[in-house]
Amino acid sequence: MKKDTRILSGIQPTGKLHLGNYLGALKNWVALQDEFPQVCYYCIVDLHAVTAPYEPKELKQRVFDTALDFLAAGLDPDKAAIFIQSQVTEHSELMWLLNTITPIGSLERMTQYKDKKKRHADHINAGLLNYPILMAADILLYRATMVPVGEDQVQHLELTREIARKFNYTFGDTFPEPEPRLTRGARIMSLTAPENKMSKSDMERSYITLDEEPESIKSKLKKAVTDAGTSGDLGPGGQNLLTILEVIDPEAAKNFENDAKAGQIRYADLKSYLADKLTEYFGPFRERRQELASKPDAVWELLLDGTQQARRIASATLRDAKKKMGFI
Ligand code: TYM
Repeated sequence: MKKDTRILSGIQPTGKLHLGNYLGALKNWVALQDEFPQVCYYCIVDLHAVTAPYEPKELKQRVFDTALDFLAAGLDPDKAAIFIQSQVTEHSELMWLLNTITPIGSLERMTQYKDKKKRHADHINAGLLNYPILMAADILLYRATMVPVGEDQVQHLELTREIARKFNYTFGDTFPEPEPRLTRGARIMSLTAPENKMSKSDMERSYITLDEEPESIKSKLKKAVTDAGTSGDLGPGGQNLLTILEVIDPEAAKNFENDAKAGQIRYADLKSYLADKLTEYFGPFRERRQELASKPDAVWELLLDGTQQARRIASATLRDAKKKMGFI
């Protein structure tokens, strides 16, 4: 089996991406495309996005907005293939094949499924349960060896490995077992309820989007929950702000951490420093995003190009998998 490095990851088109998406995944995607050019596949997973209630008229715009975030964050179509999942129909077909070897019990054990089942008790469709099989298809179609994601996706990746093992055992060696690649920012928490992860499905005050206006960054951080722990302990809210700062300004984060250890941290100072740093860090991002938004044709063109690159690999893998399963 070929074990050459191949990288795949995906993000749902939720509209504008937030700091968790960036620090947990997208920032790493950019680093990996530079370290491993020509073997990265980054995908906007619109088929996953329709498992929750949504407005069909808005889906295309959400995909476009996600593409703008990808490009403004530094993804480079000369180094990585950037594409839309639903345009490469092999994803759905491989998913069907993998359906037949995935135990329902494994799907029912997924934490995200259990959470969603609780939150959307009136909208539990089969897609929500089978969601991780589509994710496995996304990954295995490219015979990916490395998958840069945040911590919340690690369990899904374990299942992908289980599915790959089962397929290989049953039909012969076909798929490598992919490894997750996590970063320091793999678990960014909500600003309003720091015991939960930052998420777009939560209230607007709980997350910061990548193109957030400076005034809004300041006011959201100002109101961020930072219940102090015992002396020397930051508590989850303060620790979260420090984790965010650590990724963009490690030296300053160290100083605030020392202050905290000495019981002398001032949260107001940490918040206002972090607001300034985030504003500065995402300044060029906001400019690039605006510029790209004024050239929609070029952006769609580039996605089409990425789709063609992806399809070449995807169709060859699907053909191989079907042959191994005995199809003509
Ligand atoms: P999604 O769209 O929810 O999130 C996209 C990426 O952002 C990471 N992430 C976070 N990281 C740190 N802190 C947070 N608060 C935070 N919130 C989100 C996620 O871990 C993810 O890496 N099922 C996936 C999408 C997917 C996929 C794939 C990923 C579909 N197919 C194939 C990898 C490979 C999802 O819903 O991610």
